Amino acid sequence: KIVILDFGSQTTQLIGRRVRELDTYCEIVPYNKFPKEDTTIKGVILSGSPFSVYDENAFKIDLSEIRGKYPILGICYGAQFMSYSNGGKVEPAGTREYGRAHLASFCKDNELFKGVRDNSQVWMSHGDTITAIPDNFKVIASTDKVEIAAYQVEGESIWGVQFHPEVFHTEDGTQILKNFVVDVCGCKQDWSPASFIESTVVELKKQLGDDKVVLALSGGVDSSVAAVLLNRAIGKNLTCIFVDHGMLRKNEFKNVLIDYDCLGLNVIGVDASKKFFAELAGVTDPEHKRKIIGKGFIDVFDEEAHKIKDVKWLAQGTIYPDCIESLSITGTVIKSHHNVGGLPEKMHLKLCEPLRLLFKDEVRRVGRQLGMPEHLIGRHPFPGPGLAVRILGDITPEKVSILQDADDVFIQGLRDWGLYDQVWQAGVILLPVQSVGVMGDERTYERAVALRAVTSTDAMTADWAHLPYDFMGKISNDIINKVKGVNRVTYDISSKPPATIEWE
Ligand code: XMP
Repeated sequence: KIVILDFGSQTTQLIGRRVRELDTYCEIVPYNKFPKEDTTIKGVILSGSPFSVYDENAFKIDLSEIRGKYPILGICYGAQFMSYSNGGKVEPAGTREYGRAHLASFCKDNELFKGVRDNSQVWMSHGDTITAIPDNFKVIASTDKVEIAAYQVEGESIWGVQFHPEVFHTEDGTQILKNFVVDVCGCKQDWSPASFIESTVVELKKQLGDDKVVLALSGGVDSSVAAVLLNRAIGKNLTCIFVDHGMLRKNEFKNVLIDYDCLGLNVIGVDASKKFFAELAGVTDPEHKRKIIGKGFIDVFDEEAHKIKDVKWLAQGTIYPDCIESLSITGTVIKSHHNVGGLPEKMHLKLCEPLRLLFKDEVRRVGRQLGMPEHLIGRHPFPGPGLAVRILGDITPEKVSILQDADDVFIQGLRDWGLYDQVWQAGVILLPVQSVGVMGDERTYERAVALRAVTSTDAMTADWAHLPYDFMGKISNDIINKVKGVNRVTYDISSKPPATIEWE
């Protein structure tokens, strides 16, 4: 495996995903928690960081713990730190170097650059730059602006790159990472969905024996794949519970239950919508709504689970990004996600998380390998509290029904126009606004909705989707004509940051 030491960069997870795409297992750990005892490590990558090496609180490590024991690749701050701590010089760049650059010259015979094309585009994002390297370091690549764009320590398997090989805009980034991971570190590229399934099923059988397990299904990809995997390992000992809080998409509860049935899962569907509507009546504060739904969900699930005899385990579709220990540089909670945490504490059951090592795209690959239908695998993410966080202001069954209808027109439209798979996620927001319109000869005074569709790779950042005008015109018409109570449609063109994907 490869260990990625995280110094707090926004792209650390991306490094992990790129390594996994090379069918190589890797783990991301905080910079100061190197797993010394682990004998399966083949190489180490040092990530970037929001800090400058000169900052008082900059994250620092004792390099002697890893130097000479494993090949090392330092990226951005990782490269600056290795050079600086060996006597090199790092200085603020005249202007922040941000965006595209080209490898104007590089050592073609260096192992790290095998297969890299002349003048290949690389992506820079750094405030500091390496201005001098120690004597035994050798410059192996330069761009027209940055002389020390990459270096190698002479006679050692240690490299530093000032640019970001993990980002999409570095054209030969994957090749560079492959050179490091496969050629230098000798990883065998044997991490595949099929091998993951095979070994996980064996482990689950061993871990769970003849014990009974409950799992909360949400209709989403993660919990569904976790359920199918567990079903393969322990069959009838798995009971899934799917709670309808009344704020799912139109017909979602019914359709998803049919899907699960086809997959041979043992599922109990619980319609608890009345309880949730009663508890949410009159509540307008977004965090308060989230708390009510989170707690209500746990209560309903707990009650149902207690009806099953001798349950020992709670299974969850937790995935790797939820488990990576965050360095919490700012420590602010933007939104409390209701499905992370809460349940395990309440239930006093042992926790089983078969997907805890996988990134989202790997979960999808595993689902496909397990034979799950594409419409389940390719599903857009949907927030745990559902349409509750897409109705601004208080929630009533009538508003939910209007929103479900408008959302259905939009989502069906995306599918019909072949746009569904091009966006990360889409939905409609019901605004607490009424406006004047005219329909036939009548004056109307009805609700406004906002369409939201974004592109993203991990929901951490997102851009509004540039959907065709013709499509938007058609959807707007359809919503206003078909959905009673709506007379105005707008499109949300904010990116994240500074906005978020959901409105609440
Ligand atoms: P934001 O709005 O923070 O959303 O940009 C990022 C992603 O998370 C989803 N989301 C949630 N998912 N429980 C979830 O499972 C929640 O409470 C929740 N709130 C937001 C959101 O849909 C987007 O994919």
